[in-house]
Order: sequence, then structure tokens, then C-alpha cells
Amino acid sequence: MTLSTQQSTGVDPQQVLDVDHESYWGPYFSYFPALARYIPLGDYARRNHPRACVLGASDGKFALPLLRAGWEVVAVETDELFLDGGGLDLSDGHHDIVGLRRRLAAEGLEERCTIVEQDYMTLPAQGDFQLVMGSGLWSMPPNRVHSLQKLVDHAMDMVAPGGIFFGDYLIGLNDDEIACGYYPETNEMDKIVDRPGWRIFENADCGIYGESHLGYEQWHFHRYAAVISYRMRAPREPVPEK
Ligand SMILES: C[S@@+](CC[C@H](N)C(=O)[O-])C[C@H]1O[C@@H](n2cnc3c(N)ncnc32)[C@H](O)[C@@H]1O
Repeated sequence: MTLSTQQSTGVDPQQVLDVDHESYWGPYFSYFPALARYIPLGDYARRNHPRACVLGASDGKFALPLLRAGWEVVAVETDELFLDGGGLDLSDGHHDIVGLRRRLAAEGLEERCTIVEQDYMTLPAQGDFQLVMGSGLWSMPPNRVHSLQKLVDHAMDMVAPGGIFFGDYLIGLNDDEIACGYYPETNEMDKIVDRPGWRIFENADCGIYGESHLGYEQWHFHRYAAVISYRMRAPREPVPEK
């Protein structure tokens, strides 16, 4: 007799969340797997199709795992290369980017994924997603026309009551990063996400990693951090006494 994965490890594989490792950004750190503690997965997600908005979805590092788990996803991305695919020659070699559209088609996931090829700051923020998430995008040069506070505010305004905001962000490691205002310490991020009706579940300093990638090919270090905050539902109306 063979044991199921759940029996042998005590972990239900349907309740596990991981990044898509085939994505160009797959090897780079994300705190995303921790979301499995807070968002619906398993049968609940497959039956109810909760809605996520992935800001800076690129070629599907987060969108694909959410879709496979049953979520509906709005994937917001401005870079055509990661949506339509193409070649990249970088200092670590050649990369063939398949692109989100072809990756969705290969798994028959297009119907539950809407791609929005737009800067997310131009989208309405109407509080209608159960999950809004971004990873490693707030410090990117095109976003510096807005303050970090405005970038995070807009993302959080998209979260529905009862929903979750998730953000991987970077903490400053050198004088330039510290001075520019887009690499906050965790206590500064606490203040940025602090708002009435919300509860910060986690704000974690995740450590320093060495890496090289598109946009920053020289070997460098990033100090990663992540925040997970919950938008509370309005209190229930008291049940009238009979
Ligand atoms: C550095 S990549 C990180 C990819 C992946 N999210 C990760 O963490 O590994 C960030 C992606 O966000 C996209 N992006 C940045 N700012 C954006 C914005 N304001 N609206 C939509 N996409 C944006 C970029 O084009 C890029 O593909």
C-alpha cells in the first residue's frame, strides 16, 4: 500500500503554493509561498474562483500558480517581452522568454486570466479583488513618478473587504537605495500600509541574496522583505433580539 503525499508528509499538496519556477523571474526570492496560510486554495478555490490582481505579472511567476489553484487572475504588465515572448541576451547568457500569453494557452488557462497591458496606476481601484499582489516592482525607475506611499495606496485600494494585500519589497542596502525612498525598512513599511480597517498579518525581513538579472546585470545584493495585510470586513449587523 502506498501512502498519499498528505498521509506521508502531513501536508496537503492542494494547500501548498509556490512560484512558477519556469518563469524568467522564478529563481529570484519571493515570500509568495507564505500566502498559502491566508488565501483560499484547494476545493474552496476551485469551486469559488476568487479573484486576484497580479501587478507586474511578467511571464506568470505568480499568475500561473494562482490560476492552477482555481483563481481568476487579472495580470497587469507593461512589458511586451514578458507577455509575448522573445530572446534576451544578458551577461549570464541567452534566455528564451516564452511569454505569458503562450504559457496560458499551453495550459488552457486563458479563460480565467485577463491580461491588462497597462501601468496599474492608471487602473481604477475599486476594492474588488480578494488578493492584490506585487513583487519587486515599486523600486523600478518608471514607478518613481509616484511616491512609494501612492504606489502602495493604489494597490491596497484595489483589495476587497475580506481580502489580502501582498507585497515583496526591497530594503535599502546602500546609501543611494536608502536615500531614494523606495527601499523602506520594515518599520517604515509598517507606516506605509497602516490604515484603519486593516490588520498587518506579517511584515518580514527575509534576508540578503546575491543575484544578477535583467535590469541589473552586474552581480549585486538585494535585501528582501514582504508585507501581508488583511482588509477587514465591515462588522456584522447585530442580530435583533426576539
Ligand atoms: C522586476 S519584475 C519582477 C517580476 C516578478 N514579479 C518577480 O518578483 O520576480 C517586475 C515586473 O513588473 C512590471 N511593472 C513594473 N511596474 C509596473 C506598473 N506600474 N504596472 C504594471 N507592470 C509594472 C515590470 O514590467 C516587470 O515585468
